[in-house]
Amino acid sequence: MTSIGELKRKTLEAVTRPSYSISNRDMILLNDNANLFGVNPAVLEVAETFDFTRMWAYPSENSDTLRARLASEYGISPEEVIVGNGSDEILDIASKCFINPGDIFCSPTPTFSMYKYYARLHMGRIVEKTLGPDFSIDPDQIIAESSKLTAICQPNNPTAVLFDPAAVRRILRESPGIVMLDEAYADFCGSNMLPDVMNAERAIDVRTFSKAYGIAGLRAGFAISRKEVVDELRSFRTPFGLNAFSEAVAARALDNKAWMMETVAKMKAEREYLRPRLESLGFKVYPSDCNFLLCKVPRYGPSLVASLRSEGVAIRDCNSYPLLQDHVRITIAPRPMLDTLLEKLGKLLSGGQT
Ligand SMILES: Cc1ncc(COP(=O)(O)O)c(C=O)c1O
Repeated sequence: MTSIGELKRKTLEAVTRPSYSISNRDMILLNDNANLFGVNPAVLEVAETFDFTRMWAYPSENSDTLRARLASEYGISPEEVIVGNGSDEILDIASKCFINPGDIFCSPTPTFSMYKYYARLHMGRIVEKTLGPDFSIDPDQIIAESSKLTAICQPNNPTAVLFDPAAVRRILRESPGIVMLDEAYADFCGSNMLPDVMNAERAIDVRTFSKAYGIAGLRAGFAISRKEVVDELRSFRTPFGLNAFSEAVAARALDNKAWMMETVAKMKAEREYLRPRLESLGFKVYPSDCNFLLCKVPRYGPSLVASLRSEGVAIRDCNSYPLLQDHVRITIAPRPMLDTLLEKLGKLLSGGQT
């Protein structure tokens, strides 16, 4: 009988999805940049009044309630918004929609690895432009590729800082293809390039409720663009893609941004608590506009990450990225989790097992 491997699409043979999941719920998860400062109160508020007896019904096909709420939030029309099952779905849809086999997909590197994965799935030709040693972006290099689809993360994961907005603006304005600007972490630093995206003819602003809004488990993401772009994206979105409960919670989370802003303030304070303590353990800690710190570890790069994990603390190993040998990424968390991290790191680095 033909094996499953043989049945698989030939063009997918070299494609593997980056894997993030850690199933151990007791682990301290400082590896995926979720909001560790608790769940958004919108979840319980909506649960109190939500009509669960209507769960037999499909939600609205295109998440109309949430689109309307997002439109009023951002001062745009509902026709300029698309909602996804996490912003990951939007990234997938954009590649599906705009990449023909062999079309150039361009992104700086290091950056969020899923952009490249989706472009590969849809058989794009991947062109990556390595950032400068100071993690800066060269807009000329990117524009010169005339790529069909470009992905820019602002601020950038994993380098943690904003690119020069003027450089990003040039890419938005001068790239002939579609530019996806992923602002997943923008809420942590108050950056907002939506006006620039809307001024550009063919750009998409991708956002998520998984980070500052603290509802990663509900999988709500969205993107804003001109109506012509959104219309195209929408025809490749799964109908009913976001479940009704998640939609209601995401809309409520926008009604009460105080919680989000408070957790951002707490996160910033804890980020500044962690920084000098890591430095005194010999880490090189980079500036951050996000809810994580990128650091170069004093020694034992990948094995330090593995040893820490066996001690119950997960951080992200960035060793395989260009420029980031022996670097790790640590999500900012409430103080007790950071103290546990620091204690374990202290032991491992002072000659304990690694
Ligand atoms: C830069 C960036 N974009 C998008 C995502 C995906 O977020 P979600 O699918 O949860 O909305 C992540 C998650 O880590 C991310 O770091």
